[in-house]
Amino acid sequence: MLVTLEGIDGSGKTSAWNHLRETRSGPLTFTREPTDSWYGDAVRRSIGADEADSLAELFLFTADHAAHLSETIRPALERDEVVISDRYSDSRYAYQGAAIADRIERPVEYIMGIHQPFTRPPDATIYLDVDPATGARRSGTTNKLEGQEFLGHVAQNYERLIDREPDRFVRIDATADQSSVFEAVDEALDRILDA
Ligand code: TYD
Repeated sequence: MLVTLEGIDGSGKTSAWNHLRETRSGPLTFTREPTDSWYGDAVRRSIGADEADSLAELFLFTADHAAHLSETIRPALERDEVVISDRYSDSRYAYQGAAIADRIERPVEYIMGIHQPFTRPPDATIYLDVDPATGARRSGTTNKLEGQEFLGHVAQNYERLIDREPDRFVRIDATADQSSVFEAVDEALDRILDA
């Protein structure tokens, strides 16, 4: 079973993932994108470069995803573990869907098409829902992907993904205080694992 955590910057998704990592035990693999590999290093280098080419950046993120699948995700699923990933393919559809929108028609569909032949879709996705103004304020807008206007576009893309596959997503109100968010995430994961 593959469960992913998604949300815009400042949604508190990484804190929720850390909470799960600290409180859950059993045959679980906790992982994240961008990964800690050298592919992930290349991605972080690109994120930090304001002038980086947006299409090149999409392919760096996608390369990192391909390596993540072969090196971490698929082996863990073969061991019958539950995999919990902080960001996954939806981050590309939502973020790079916004970043390349000025260059490519139907960008979200284009990026989904690139992934389709090799990716392993998530079984369930916990979406931490926060408005772009709060997300930008919380994340402090330290790079080009964290500005309020850009996050607004990313959030719209996430909504389109949720509309396409409402059964895969569990939406959690991430504007609430942290303990309520953690509680809601715990409940959501319990329900997902029971199903
Ligand atoms: P992440 O490490 O989750 O950010 P944070 O610093 O909030 O923990 O991700 C780094 C940035 O990369 C974040 O702004 C989201 C963005 N991103 C994409 O644009 N596309 C992707 O496919 C992924 C995985 C992340």
